[in-house]
Amino acid sequence: MNELLKNTLLRAIHAGADVLKHYFQGTFEIKSKSSLNDLVTEVDKKAEDAIIEVIKSVFPEHFILSEEAGEMSSASNYKWIIDPIDGTVNFAHGIPICCVSIGLEKDGQMIAGAVFNPFMNELFFAERGKGAFLNNRPLKVSTNPNMESACLVTGFPYRWVDVGADPISVFERFIRLGLPVRRLGSAAIDLCWVAAGRFDGFWEYNLNPWDIAAGYLIIEEAGGRISNFNGDAYNIYDKQTLATNGQIHEQMLEIIKGTGNPKI
Ligand code: IPD
Ligand code: CA
Ligand code: CA
Repeated sequence: MNELLKNTLLRAIHAGADVLKHYFQGTFEIKSKSSLNDLVTEVDKKAEDAIIEVIKSVFPEHFILSEEAGEMSSASNYKWIIDPIDGTVNFAHGIPICCVSIGLEKDGQMIAGAVFNPFMNELFFAERGKGAFLNNRPLKVSTNPNMESACLVTGFPYRWVDVGADPISVFERFIRLGLPVRRLGSAAIDLCWVAAGRFDGFWEYNLNPWDIAAGYLIIEEAGGRISNFNGDAYNIYDKQTLATNGQIHEQMLEIIKGTGNPKI
């Protein structure tokens, strides 16, 4: 990836994060989207504008897919996939677990991704084939091969319709195994924390491409594995996401499918 693309990605993510920092725990307008607690704030839109402005000023012809603005399609083989705030509910409640997430695709393949939580000053970055980094330090997934001692994270959709499976039953199966399962409220941060070895695995139903685009590459470049619930090769438009350190992937797949040994 050339330096101009990388610099633009980093400038864009900082432009978005500056907006989050400015409004955090202040006053801003909040509205509901698909359900009462599926929120969008004026900060999502302002951060999105700031991000898109940076990208468009350098690459006006590139394709953009952004959560609130939708698609700005073009014939370009570059596509920026943007979540201006991942963890909007946390942001709206003054909980500092939220981030800006931007992935960059070229010819349908993710080539770079950045996730920045400015409240923890954690910038996760990956470039295809060049590794994943947290604040410039190389990232590696955990080496834990045992489900018995795994620490997991998940998330739940805002609405239960069209999920196609029952997330509560899957959650219950993991909890009944006595495993610690956390729920941070930001899928992008969940993925990055698996990449950083803090969690051994993450699963969620019904995520959108902007939730996953950057984290997907960060997981892969940190040596992890990401798939759908059949274990198939992943694409960010999938509605089932399982990301792990690789070692516990098959065991987690069995628990999710309900075919695993209930005692592990
Ligand atoms: C949400 C977060 C959350 C996940 C939801 C997402 P948003 O994104 O990633 O962790 O459980 O499914 O929609 O709405 O805060 O951008
Ligand atoms: Ca999101
Ligand atoms: Ca969002």
